[in-house]
This record gives sequence, C-alpha cells and structure tokens, in this order.
Amino acid sequence: MKINLANIKKAKKLLNKCECVAIPTETVYGLAGNAYSDSACKKIFKLKKRPKNNPLIVHYYNIQKLKEDCNFNNNFHKLYKRFCPGPITFILNLKKNSKISKIVTNKKGALAVRFPKHPVARSLLKKLSFPLAAPSANLSSKVSAVSSDNVREDFGKKIKYVLEGGKSSIGLESTIIDIRNRPKILRLGGLEISVIKKVLKKKILIKTNPKKISSPGQLKIHYSPGIPIRLNVKRIKNNEAFLLFSKKKERKSNYYFLSQKGDLKEAAKNLYITLRKIKKNKYKSIAVGKIPNKGLGKTINDRLIRASKF
Ligand code: TXA
Ligand code: MG
Repeated sequence: MKINLANIKKAKKLLNKCECVAIPTETVYGLAGNAYSDSACKKIFKLKKRPKNNPLIVHYYNIQKLKEDCNFNNNFHKLYKRFCPGPITFILNLKKNSKISKIVTNKKGALAVRFPKHPVARSLLKKLSFPLAAPSANLSSKVSAVSSDNVREDFGKKIKYVLEGGKSSIGLESTIIDIRNRPKILRLGGLEISVIKKVLKKKILIKTNPKKISSPGQLKIHYSPGIPIRLNVKRIKNNEAFLLFSKKKERKSNYYFLSQKGDLKEAAKNLYITLRKIKKNKYKSIAVGKIPNKGLGKTINDRLIRASKF
C-alpha cells in the first residue's frame, strides 16, 4: 500500500487539535483520538454511542513509546518480539505517572494496548507525540468496519476525516490477552491461540464468556448486522440470505460465499463486509451454513454466535 503523506498530515493536524479521525488497521478500522486528552476521548465515546464503562484500546508505535505509560513483564516481551506489530492486544498495568486520560480506562490501573501493523497507521503513529485511543470504527454493538466506505456508512459526516488505507487485510479484531498474571485470552481474534501458546510454552486460560464481564467485547450481543442470524443451517427459509463458508456449485442470487477456495483467512477477511452487504441488499434475515471450528474459524464462529443473539 502506497502511503499518501498529505493524508497523514491532514490526520495528524486534526488529531493534534483533539479531533477524532478514523484510521485503517490490518484488523478493522479504528475511531482514533489522542489518548492523553480527555476531550478527544469523550468525543470517541459520544460518536460511537459507546457505554462509558467500556474501556478503549490504545495504539502505540512501538515498545519504547509504551514504556512511558505501562509496566510489562517477560511474557509480554516474548509475545511482543514475535507478534508485534500485529493483531494482538495486551492488557497491562498502567504506570502511576502515565499520561493516559482517565476516560480511556475504567479498570483500576489496567490498559489495553496494541501495535497495529498497517503501514498507514504506523506512519501516522510514528509522527505523533501521543498514542491513539481507537475502538473499532462502528456504532456500538454493530458490525466492525473493514473499509473507509464502511466507516462512512456508520458515521457519515459526523467524523471529521477518514484516513484511507484500503480493505483491512485480516478483517477480524485483534486477539485480546490479559498478560499481567497467568496469561488469559479475553477475546478471540485475528491471531490464533495455538501460535500464542507455542511462544509462551504454557497453558493459556480462555475466558471469553465469563460470568462477570471484564471486556464488553465478551458481551453476548455484539457484531450485529441489525437483522436476525440463524447458525449451522442446512436448509434455508424463503427470503433468507444464505451465508456459506466456501463456494458451492449451486449459485443463487441470495447465496453469499465467504471464501472462493475454502480458506479460513479469506473467509475472515470477507465476514464483516459480507454481513454489511446482505443488510444493504435488504434481506430481513441471514441463514449461516456450517463454518469449520478451527483456527480463525473459531473467531468467525464466535462473532456469528454473538451476532445471532440479536
Ligand atoms: O483489532 C482491534 O482490536 C481493533 C482495532 C481498531 O485496533 N479495535 C477494537 O476495539 O476492536 P474495540 O473497542 O471495538 O474492542 C476492544 C475491546 C473491548 O471489548 C473492550 O471492552 C476491551 O477491548 N478492553 C479495553 N480495555 C480493556 C481493559 N483494560 N480490560 C479488559 N478489556 C478491555
Ligand atoms: Mg468493537
């Protein structure tokens, strides 16, 4: 992806004035603001209609910049070295003298931190003197945005600027891991747990459906296209859109395929864009065929299960 420096400059100028800007990342687009500024962070919550108790992820250029705000341990170092920048978010302890706005996190002293890999996001972060708070750039509880058009569909002119970065290459949000004590996955995401396990060489707890919610990404109703979804369907009903994992010989106008060649990465990349397309084409409900429950398929199924609680 070619970086347009004039666009980066425009985004930087607005962010310096504590305005919100949508930015591309390799997972999904983010709605970004200065993480050190109360007024910028307040704007993010307002635009997204996000509940105040749902803390924001903060995006850093690299570990050097993070040192000013957070403490970290050996497990963090191992994962950072192997996967960053990339689709993994860490829950870390904030330093007492950190400059992070109190509005970002309601969790006593814990901060969600990510290092996006998208070259446009990296180029922007490198030029800023502050990290970016950036939840996914969609209305709260709805499907995330994986293109600049998706962002505009949700926010129209309410966002001052959408920084162009093409289609997100992963298309699913980052995997969230609480790394402060015993490593614990809080949200399945674009990085598979099996590869995290290989690096840490130990068992990892998975707490994506806890009784007590510590991360609203764990909420049951989330990622919803705004119409009902039925899962593991073999036979569709009249007027339903049929969402299928891989391309079938039989093709009808209401059939939507996540992957041409039955590839989970491709399916992940197409998931949100296809859900949005079906809604736009005025279907009143979606039937989903079986999706393999391995690797990224687990994340796809996690999102569809939550979206089906509509
Ligand atoms: O891939 C991603 O993670 C994207 C891109 C833009 O970076 N961002 C994203 O943000 O998905 P968001 O806000 O939609 O989801 C972040 C999740 C939320 O469920 C939030 O509750 C959780 O992270 N979270 C944030 N801070 C937390 C904390 N201190 N402890 C536990 N969970 C936290
Ligand atoms: Mg989100």
